[in-house]
Amino acid sequence: MNLNSPVITIDGPSGSGKGTIARRVADALGFHLLDSGALYRLTAIAAKNKRISLDDGDALALLARGLDIRFDGNKDRSERILLDNEDVTLEVRRESTGAKASAVAELTEVRTALLERQRAFQKAPGLVADGRDMGTHVFPSALIKIFLTASAEERAKRRHKQLKGKGMDVTLAALSRDIEDRDRRDSERSVAPLKPARDARILDSSGLSIESVANTVLEWVAEL
Ligand code: DC
Repeated sequence: MNLNSPVITIDGPSGSGKGTIARRVADALGFHLLDSGALYRLTAIAAKNKRISLDDGDALALLARGLDIRFDGNKDRSERILLDNEDVTLEVRRESTGAKASAVAELTEVRTALLERQRAFQKAPGLVADGRDMGTHVFPSALIKIFLTASAEERAKRRHKQLKGKGMDVTLAALSRDIEDRDRRDSERSVAPLKPARDARILDSSGLSIESVANTVLEWVAEL
């Protein structure tokens, strides 16, 4: 482990709040942030733009390696995400993009292509990385690994509120279905499936406020 730039990993299923918590923790510590899901989402968007089929592993891996991405915002905060100089901030967050990202993420070639890109985010003074396999594969020697969960019902409700707030038109029922489908696909895939690292601390955020979850993580970090 690189002590000059320690890594905190936050993995978990979609809607568990890991993105929000990762940002809070990174802000509190002044660390860089890696939203690894955004890389899979951007690969899916680039594939659509370049008309590459979502099952062509070799072409997608080449694409993923060469992605021209810019996270506009301090320390990689994704206030604005640019792909090939085009603002794709809204498109990145769409449910349809998430579903395509989940399909792309099943391909070993794509995961391998994105591995080095993700590791390059590790910089002083430190990194908070959120995703599905941050603790298990990308940063196996992270300083602390968190696996954040919440009930499927609560995750669908949170996502609903979040997307509505962004002016997107989605129903709770459709979201619940999407979340269950995505959970199944992310957990059952053969390569780097969604599961806690052996040395991860499990944190169930159902019924807890963002503050309280972020504070728990920060307390764990302070105890090290
Ligand atoms: O966290 P998210 O919803 O932005 O992730 C989108 C998809 O990308 C998710 O369904 C699975 C995939 N993903 C992954 O396989 N590994 C990661 N580290 C992050 C995301």
